[in-house]
Amino acid sequence: MEILRHAVLLVHLVGFAILFGAWVVEAVGQRRITRLQTLGMVIAAVAGLALAAPWGISYDLNYTKIGVKLVVLLIIGALLGIGSARQRKSGTVAPAIFWLIGILTLLNAALAVLWR
Ligand code: HEM
Repeated sequence: MEILRHAVLLVHLVGFAILFGAWVVEAVGQRRITRLQTLGMVIAAVAGLALAAPWGISYDLNYTKIGVKLVVLLIIGALLGIGSARQRKSGTVAPAIFWLIGILTLLNAALAVLWR
């Protein structure tokens, strides 16, 4: 069970890597929202929700932290949705939306690692 949980954690981290990596590529490039960013967000969300249930561990989960991470992820999802809809219409994304996606993704990783 513990090995399975670690495998799900690995998938969670792959989702984070895809979301953040795809965003960094755009940050130094065209500053667009891409399907890879959304794919990474969905992978991180599904694996994160699976990890939010207390299986395969012998310690208590920090549900305040998990709740905050979920809210931050929902905001990232909303920004990806609103941003890509506007991008389809006008061809560009508002800089605030683009930068917030990266900052909030990094914030969630920081919360995961630094908040014990
Ligand atoms: C962009 C969004 C997210 C990012 C960047 C992210 C990042 C991370 C990282 C880096 C870890 C590993 C930290 C460690 O094990 O020390 C982690 C673990 C974890 N994440 Fe996320 N996460 C995100 C979204 C979520 C969501 C939405 C949930 C649940 C609702 C969630 C729940 C968890 C749980 C339960 C763990 C493992 C805790 C444990 O078993 O000790 N994450 N996350």
